Amino acid sequence: MEAVQAIRGMNDILPEQVGWWQGIESAAREVLENFGYREIRTPVAEKLELFSRGIGQSTDIVEKEMYAFEDRNGDWLALRPEATASIVRSYVQHGLHAESGCRKLYQIGPMFRHERPQKGRYRQFHQIDAEVFGLDGPMIDAEMMHMLSLLVERMGISGVGLHINTLGCPTCRQGYREVLKSFLAERAEGFCEDCLRRRDTNPLRVFDCKVKSCAELLESAPQLIDYICDDCRAHFGAVRQFLDKLGTRYAVNPRIVRGLDYYMRTTFEVITDRLGSQNAIGGGGRYDGLVRDLGGPAVPAVGFAMGMERLVLLLEQEKEKPSRYPRCFIASLGEQARVSGFLLSQQFRARGLETEMDYNGRSLKSQMRRADKSGARYVLILGEEELARREIQLRDMVTKTQRIVPLENIFETLLAVDSEK
Ligand code: HAM
Repeated sequence: MEAVQAIRGMNDILPEQVGWWQGIESAAREVLENFGYREIRTPVAEKLELFSRGIGQSTDIVEKEMYAFEDRNGDWLALRPEATASIVRSYVQHGLHAESGCRKLYQIGPMFRHERPQKGRYRQFHQIDAEVFGLDGPMIDAEMMHMLSLLVERMGISGVGLHINTLGCPTCRQGYREVLKSFLAERAEGFCEDCLRRRDTNPLRVFDCKVKSCAELLESAPQLIDYICDDCRAHFGAVRQFLDKLGTRYAVNPRIVRGLDYYMRTTFEVITDRLGSQNAIGGGGRYDGLVRDLGGPAVPAVGFAMGMERLVLLLEQEKEKPSRYPRCFIASLGEQARVSGFLLSQQFRARGLETEMDYNGRSLKSQMRRADKSGARYVLILGEEELARREIQLRDMVTKTQRIVPLENIFETLLAVDSEK
């Protein structure tokens, strides 16, 4: 019978790979919690409206990439393509804004976008997402990017760059949109069809176009930074000053326009040149209007998300795979010894020692092969004769030495031997 395969672009994370994921997750939790972020877990499905209103009708995500479906009640739902809109929904729904001052939240989990799968781009992918609500000053923008740099460093990833930009506020951006539209209209014959379509729907997105000739034409395009209002200019200047004070390295890059509509003022991406065209390992920015647009009070916010698959791809390029070994393996000979070994392994585990055993009653040779493969440092060999004498063989797999020790207090003996190493 033909075996059922996973959905294209949705991957299993196998035990051999899961060490990378656990390492990334624990580094993220450590750094984020240290900066005062607390975890939130929202459902993977939401009402479709949340994303079309939150992310924007004319974005690629909403236009072409959403896993949207009608459920059995006739409600339109979607698998979340990102975490920000869901977190804002939860923040408003549960009145989290009622609590004083700022609120820092993070979420780790799968997101879904129906993109064309390729290396670094999947249909189910995972994000580490962080959001701060209630602060509109430049200090938190800088702190967040500083934290993002620390996070990348703490995960053991090197050779990535922080690129920052400002998108101004809706008022000053409006003026710039018209200027950019005229620029695109004057050179219409040089741009690809996508860019021309974006000219009318979402002109700033042309800066994200991957077509080389479009990018070249845009080199001479008017730049938003020259059109932003005094307040937005001051905000961006202060963000940069704080970054300088923190010693966080960055480059100002006017092409960081982001693919979601909710951004204003500060935007940023962490970029690598080691993953081909999927070069962003994280991105985010300020979105002061979104909480209100989703029915909440006018609360400013800023956040970012990192793509975990891309982090893993980078780690695989530069580091040895983290592995996990049981500390102890229990081998046994004979039925009675096997049962004793079984009980012993439960006791060891209950006391916090990672222990594996042979359940099948195979030959000693094959058990030793398995023990070796498991990577266990110690093997306890329990035979019927030893059992009768209340003894056990203790083998150190690294020094390849073996000795007979009393079965009584074997756990303590093992710990004592281990602590001598
Ligand atoms: P985003 O730029 O769409 O932003 O996604 C953030 C990161 O998720 C990307 O930099 C990338 O590493 C990863 N990513 C996105 N799509 C895929 C995919 N198809 N396959 C693999 N990885 C992917 C957001 O999602 C915003 N919600 C970030 C944010 C939070 N802004 C404010 N708060």
